[in-house]
Amino acid sequence: MAERRFVVVAPTGMLGRAFVELGAARGLPLRTAGRQGADLEVDLLAPTTLAAIDDVDVVINCAAWTDVDGAETHEADATRLNGDAVRALAERCRDVGALLVHFGTDYVFDGEGEAPYPVDAPLAPLNAYGRSKAAGERALAEVGAPHLYLRTSWLYAPWGKNFVLTIAKLARERDALKVVDDQRGRPTSAEGLARTTLALVEAGARGTLHATDGGECTWFELAAHIASRVAPGCAVQPCSSDEYPRPAKRPRYSVLDLGPTEALIGPLPDWREQVDAVLAKLS
Ligand SMILES: NC(=O)c1ccc[n+]([C@@H]2O[C@H](COP(=O)([O-])OP(=O)(O)OC[C@H]3O[C@@H](n4cnc5c(N)ncnc54)[C@H](OP(=O)(O)O)[C@@H]3O)[C@@H](O)[C@H]2O)c1
Repeated sequence: MAERRFVVVAPTGMLGRAFVELGAARGLPLRTAGRQGADLEVDLLAPTTLAAIDDVDVVINCAAWTDVDGAETHEADATRLNGDAVRALAERCRDVGALLVHFGTDYVFDGEGEAPYPVDAPLAPLNAYGRSKAAGERALAEVGAPHLYLRTSWLYAPWGKNFVLTIAKLARERDALKVVDDQRGRPTSAEGLARTTLALVEAGARGTLHATDGGECTWFELAAHIASRVAPGCAVQPCSSDEYPRPAKRPRYSVLDLGPTEALIGPLPDWREQVDAVLAKLS
């Protein structure tokens, strides 16, 4: 692994930072690319800046429009970054002979499933964010250059804006919390996903795979677990999504099948273990 040269696009994001920290911990030759304060000045919406990406073996793209509700009213902007810019980056990677690692979402599926979505399940996004990420999937396939495309879900880290940090804070502040219990998926530690990604690159994985933590739960079950660790006195109560209407529709069920990924690199850790590791870092 040490001989591969990496570029991480968007080191300021939740997942990007996880790669930067992992790269530093492992002493990997890793440069960052982003709009501000990165080794390489790259704005994915300004294709000429992609010329800065060179002398690299693996480009890890952590940039995305991730505001799911905001995408409902800014779908064209979301699609420019999550679709068009992915095409331009894939072309640049093809031209410089680099493997592109890119991330997708469980929100490209319709949420009507009863069993984990296989990697080749039909795309049927329910919201604008999902459609914009599906456009990125299509762009990757159309460019046809070597890539590793990892769909993930319910990402969190000890930094950034995410559900685990929000619930840990609210549980400490409040006596009770209501959390939706009718959406089921797989929480994923960004730090764990960075490790999984490097293991897959090392294993020579290519094409589309799923990468989340193991097990599954609802947002209510995840919140109850967090509260049990940080503020057991806080009563977490289940409610339905109807009680908290949001601009973007969410899938009811979005568990991603991990079979092909685990066949390559072994079992992925259970989400509870990963959440506990992040909560331990906070205290
Ligand atoms: N968060 C989740 O729950 C979740 C779930 C499933 C899949 N994913 C996927 O996982 C990946 C990582 O998500 P994340 O939550 O870590 O993202 P994030 O924290 O929202 O970070 C987004 C990053 O994109 C960068 N960016 C925005 N516009 C850019 C541009 N024009 N050029 C270059 N960089 C730009 C931002 O950099 P600036 O500092 O310059 O703004 C920021 O670093 C994404 O592909 C996302 O779709 C996330």
